[in-house]
Amino acid sequence: MTDSYSQLKNLLATEPHTWLITGVAGFIGSNLLETLLKLNQYVVGLDNFATGYQRNLDEVQALVTPAQWGNFHFIQGDIRKLDDCHRAMSFRHSREGGNPVTNADIPVEYVLHQAALGSVPRSIENPIATNETNISGFLNMLVVARDAKIKRFVYAASSSTYGDHPGLPKVEDKIGKPLSPYAVTKYVNELYADVFARTYGFNTIGLRYFNVFGPRQDPNGAYAAVIPKWIASMIKGEPVFVNGDGETSRDFCYIENTVEANLLAATTENPDATNQIYNVAVGDRTTLNQLYEQLHINLLHSHSHLQGVKPVYRDFRAGDVRHSLADISKATTLLGYQPIHRIGEGLKIAMSWYVQHLTQQGKN
Ligand SMILES: NC(=O)c1ccc[n+]([C@@H]2O[C@H](COP(=O)([O-])OP(=O)(O)OC[C@H]3O[C@@H](n4cnc5c(N)ncnc54)[C@H](O)[C@@H]3O)[C@@H](O)[C@H]2O)c1
Repeated sequence: MTDSYSQLKNLLATEPHTWLITGVAGFIGSNLLETLLKLNQYVVGLDNFATGYQRNLDEVQALVTPAQWGNFHFIQGDIRKLDDCHRAMSFRHSREGGNPVTNADIPVEYVLHQAALGSVPRSIENPIATNETNISGFLNMLVVARDAKIKRFVYAASSSTYGDHPGLPKVEDKIGKPLSPYAVTKYVNELYADVFARTYGFNTIGLRYFNVFGPRQDPNGAYAAVIPKWIASMIKGEPVFVNGDGETSRDFCYIENTVEANLLAATTENPDATNQIYNVAVGDRTTLNQLYEQLHINLLHSHSHLQGVKPVYRDFRAGDVRHSLADISKATTLLGYQPIHRIGEGLKIAMSWYVQHLTQQGKN
């Protein structure tokens, strides 16, 4: 095991650091939490359960040892409130493993900022709510992190920032006009991060995620992402809706790749790598029709009711980018990022998680 990520994990396992994850009860946040606790790191988590769940935290607790879980401190709070951001940033873990003490011992070194209201359609329906969390909340977190003089602020940016730029694959410095309020907020995050670097010498890295998927991604509700939504619909025997002709394409990225990018970005000591934006994806393009086929074939083995079932095509959705495919060479070169999982492997892991969890929920 000699790649950058394996080396980093080996190092972290022997060297505890303190991390603050915002949005820790969400899909990506809870996966970051799981990986960091398994590496014996100290973690402070902040979440207001707007779109995250206690059950995600409970699942992580079940996957780590009691001692590792003891290294986690959860704060229920809102990034729109500066006091809550301060509270999370000023929390101190006690190294002795005793009761945590506020304002003593280990300060937060790395922030992984995930808290936001995701979803393009949600932002079209309620741009004010998306703006408040994604821009004002982001700015609050930047200010408290700057004042706390942390080592690195890594934040969830988005491929939606490419907007109407037609170029493929997407290269970080060529963006178009945003196509939704959500995309505006994620681009503003990048602008603020850049200005904080210039004016305060603050140290950030923005990760433009491309359609992340995997265990614990919410399959329910009007704003669910396509992969969990379709898997859940197929398992339950409900219709699967395709927005448009199905030839819309995405660079679907399994969650473990996203976790890898966050850890590499937080800890890189390459001076050229900081205050930069990176695509985080795989570099493979999959159309919605191909995605349907893959899910259908895999689930058919265990769900015979899917025999002969076809998707239902409906109108294109406002605000959606037509094609999305990342050039990941910048992250590979500067951060040592190498996506471990391609879409096929990731889908298999995700599908078995949903089969297990949705079946269990159905029984309860
Ligand atoms: N999942 C993707 O494909 C994808 C793609 C691009 C960018 N992103 C970004 O990645 C981040 C994480 O996304 P996710 O898929 O895990 O979504 P998620 O909804 O599962 O997680 C977001 C978390 O943030 C929390 N949150 C929301 N508003 C908050 C507030 N005001 N204060 C505190 N916590 C708050 C939610 O409760 C939730 O737990 C987001 O910033 C999102 O915009 C995700």
